[in-house]
Amino acid sequence: MEEKKLNVKWNGHACFEISGSRRIIIDPFLEGNPVAQKKKEDVQADVIVVTHGHGDHVGDALFIAKKNKAPIVTMVELAWLLKEKEESLEIHDINFSGSVNINGVKITAVPALHSSSYDGKYAGNPGGMIIEMDGRTLYHAGDTGVFMDMELIGKMYKPEIALLPIGGHYTMSPAEAARAVEMIHPKVAIPMHYNTFPPIQQNPEVFKTLVESGSKAKVHVMKVGQNLDL
Ligand code: NI
Ligand code: MN
Repeated sequence: MEEKKLNVKWNGHACFEISGSRRIIIDPFLEGNPVAQKKKEDVQADVIVVTHGHGDHVGDALFIAKKNKAPIVTMVELAWLLKEKEESLEIHDINFSGSVNINGVKITAVPALHSSSYDGKYAGNPGGMIIEMDGRTLYHAGDTGVFMDMELIGKMYKPEIALLPIGGHYTMSPAEAARAVEMIHPKVAIPMHYNTFPPIQQNPEVFKTLVESGSKAKVHVMKVGQNLDL
């Protein structure tokens, strides 16, 4: 079967737009994001995926969902909290190993070693998300520390593309993220969640060097606003 291209666009921090037969936006933190160039008004999305409740991940999800009449997919307790805010929205709640299928896009929640709150309230568990579209599989790790079950995530879902936080302080730094790549075995790893704010300053080339000296994965260090066909 001919592989369809996925277009991956990075809007800085943990926000990616993935376009194939559908358009997906993940963790749409645009307004208030010091590095993002994209405006929330300009986002066109068929599905919005949110990994956890922190403001730098929920971002403009409610606005974008409303404007595009598009569903949000997120972890159960956060789904409830978002539904309280905006009752008219279609919000899909999933939990670890659970999936939803929306117009040919399959989204599966996997663990993330982190915390989650929204609007001052505890928001259940944070997640990572496996996204399958057009026969391709991508893993957005959300905010996470490194953990051994990444090995299982790699074996179970075989993601070709892994989007991994490297900023340290709240998540993995380059050393932990490089170890994560060894466990996940993606073809391509893309660093995220760094150089947005002072506590998460990192040199992504350190991550690239660590990964490419130890595994076959290729690291794409993206510029904010850049598009990649993968
Ligand atoms: Ni977080
Ligand atoms: Mn974060």
